[in-house]
Amino acid sequence: MTTPSDGPATAALPEVPAENLTRWHAAIADDLRAAFESVLPVGKYTLGAQLRAFEEEFAAYCDSTHAIGISSGTAALHLGLRAFGVGPGDEVITVPNTYVATVFAITYVGATPVFVDVDPDTANMDPARVAAAVSDRTKAIIPVHMYGQCVDVDAVRAAAPGIPVLEDAAHAHGATLHGRKAGSLGDLAEFSFYPSKVLGALGDGGILTTSSDDLDARVRQLRYMGQAGTKHEHLVLGYQERLDEMQAAFLRVKLRCLEEQVAGRRRVASRYGEWLAGTPVTPPAHDVTGRHVYYMYTVLAPRREDLRGFLDDRGIRTQLIYPKLVPDQQAYATLPWRAADDLAVARSLVPQLLCLPMFAELTDGEVDRVGRAIRDFYGVA
Ligand SMILES: Cc1ncc(COP(=O)(O)O)c(C=O)c1O
Repeated sequence: MTTPSDGPATAALPEVPAENLTRWHAAIADDLRAAFESVLPVGKYTLGAQLRAFEEEFAAYCDSTHAIGISSGTAALHLGLRAFGVGPGDEVITVPNTYVATVFAITYVGATPVFVDVDPDTANMDPARVAAAVSDRTKAIIPVHMYGQCVDVDAVRAAAPGIPVLEDAAHAHGATLHGRKAGSLGDLAEFSFYPSKVLGALGDGGILTTSSDDLDARVRQLRYMGQAGTKHEHLVLGYQERLDEMQAAFLRVKLRCLEEQVAGRRRVASRYGEWLAGTPVTPPAHDVTGRHVYYMYTVLAPRREDLRGFLDDRGIRTQLIYPKLVPDQQAYATLPWRAADDLAVARSLVPQLLCLPMFAELTDGEVDRVGRAIRDFYGVA
């Protein structure tokens, strides 16, 4: 006689989620509650002591002088370009395989996005392509630290001397390049605190870091309605884009765990690397130039769709980050943009990329289930 528990062994296995926040939050729940309790009675919920403290702590973490808390990563990119003075008629160089927010920010200020192709191993901006993309209208460059690995920003700067660089570090809290932190490599750097990021809020949030006093002052003015200290004196067109006190308090708690989180993600990545050896799957490029923080563990997989379905049948969830290039999005069918080259590498990566489950609390057993399933799919012992 059969019972439901006599089905295939895999059917009874719990899901391996692509990402998960509740395990981390459960472990620090008391501290998060204490943070909430510390803000609630103060009665000041914007631009208060928590935000100021978090800004100082995050700037220090990034080896940067200033950090300005903003309501989202998208808003931070927008304000960063405004702070550079980018506007209509200007061009901003970036990559086509990023999240649409990077490119929308360029469009928000009335500038034209100019796409350059990426390195086939890292999926990061290829510095060798940048010089040819520069025109007399180029006003900024946004390299995106894809999946948690830094772009060679020094090489980008060398290819376009004098052009301001805004790092899109939304994937890269804690990443390094030759020992220097993401957030300290460009003139400005934007981070997102979207909940699933390596450092995420319990809602939306973002930040800009800079070591320029002038850019710091400009961004502070822009994020709070164009004021420069005196309330109700609006000196420039500004925005209501502040990171709030409650999120700053939560982020202070979570920032204290960031190094441990990065170590957890790197442990998972290293274990995946062992499982993928000898399979047709290409693991992420080795981080010889710095520390990859593995916001995503993105592999290149032959027969990607079949593999994805196979893993899904075994309860293993994956993601496609990102399944369509930004210039191929319908929004950009009518909005202006320019490609500096044929974008052939970025285009070739899209149908192969697959993001395996990745978060610091994944157990070795869960990673082993993913690794075993991939080997089974390709018929590798
Ligand atoms: C590369 C990249 N840039 C920018 C953003 C925008 O951040 P947010 O979602 O906080 O607006 C994201 C976040 O999803 C991102 O992944």
